[in-house]
Amino acid sequence: MTRTDAPSADGIWHHCHLLPDGNIDRAIRDGALVVEAGRIVWLGPLAALPDGLAHLPRHDANGAWITPGLVDCHTHLVYGGQRADEFAMRLAGASYEDIARAGGGIVSTVRATREADEATLFAQAALRLEALLAEGVTAIEIKSGYGLSLDAERKQLRVARQLGEAYGVSVYTTFLGAHALPPEYAGRADDYIDLVCNAMLPALAEEKLVDAVDAFCEGIGFSPAQTTRVFDAAARYGLPVRLHAEQLSNLGGAALAARHGALSADHLEHLDEAGVAAMAEAGTVAVLLPGAYYFLRDTHLPPLALLRQYGVPVAISTDHNPGTSPTTSLLLMMNMACTLFRMTVPEVLAGVTTHAARALGASDRHGALAVGRSADFALWQIASPAELAYWFGRNPCVGVVRQGKVYR
Ligand code: NIG
Ligand code: FE
Repeated sequence: MTRTDAPSADGIWHHCHLLPDGNIDRAIRDGALVVEAGRIVWLGPLAALPDGLAHLPRHDANGAWITPGLVDCHTHLVYGGQRADEFAMRLAGASYEDIARAGGGIVSTVRATREADEATLFAQAALRLEALLAEGVTAIEIKSGYGLSLDAERKQLRVARQLGEAYGVSVYTTFLGAHALPPEYAGRADDYIDLVCNAMLPALAEEKLVDAVDAFCEGIGFSPAQTTRVFDAAARYGLPVRLHAEQLSNLGGAALAARHGALSADHLEHLDEAGVAAMAEAGTVAVLLPGAYYFLRDTHLPPLALLRQYGVPVAISTDHNPGTSPTTSLLLMMNMACTLFRMTVPEVLAGVTTHAARALGASDRHGALAVGRSADFALWQIASPAELAYWFGRNPCVGVVRQGKVYR
């Protein structure tokens, strides 16, 4: 259902329990949530509902738990094609790096993305987005990075914006021009970074297509020096930065990101203590991506104990992409963050709400139910919030409200 057909959520949501900020200790049993003009105007125990609001129409939540809409803070949702054959090659023994060096991997998705028109990219991404939305996602980050030319990056970012409009979901766009070296720049990575910094970013920022800037700092991506140039360019346009860091090796990317005041550093399987300390100091969120860890059959765990010890906020996301994480289930990622990364239920609940919102630089808009905010929430047929991390491959979401409209 797109935004134009969706009914209004205005009125009193009752016969429900509320989990206002993902924290189980602050749950409100037998609660009520009041929406007026698409915004939350009151929440609390039903017994305390102010008389002045009691006349509003009622929505019976049938005993559901209501949480803030989930936030998927790291995705590559818009691209052409898929990479199932590459998965098969990896199963037959090739590594992710082997495939990338042989001209497959990210670059094969670049070819398919360049060939597709906006309508095709929209139609393919919309199916994936609908799956995420059916699990209560109300805010999502979408990166470019499969175009790697001004026109093709623009096409991806425009489609991301169009998805937000059509589905009434809050889309945060990230320019990831420094994702991979396009074939026409083989052997000329610094020249490509010039293009990213001096042509692509200025044009796309001017067109208001960019909310944040990211890069892939890795042996098969870009060096710390090249990443620094991208971050300096982002600063010239007043744009916040994030980084794919320490996924396959440790290049000190997380500390580099922290020095640039990054919103987040993401992946982090090879993060060391110096990187953790730098992130804690800068307030940079650690975005962990169990889907990529699982799908690459990685065995090098991100340093959860150190992240906890230093008090770094940890978010969880799908990293939806065709190469390393072709999942459309944020709930599954919560379960996998528990089983694979040994995170706790309260940690993963915060990881898809408050901490994920912070990774987007949008803590004031997403990740919590609060008076004055846009009505973005999910209804769950569960007896305990722990069920959100418990089931895998089963979706207990029974209703979604996005931007004040009821979707199911
Ligand atoms: O987040 N690590 C780099 N980028 C993506 C993978 C992209 C791809 O293989 O297409 C990621 O895992
Ligand atoms: Fe990614």
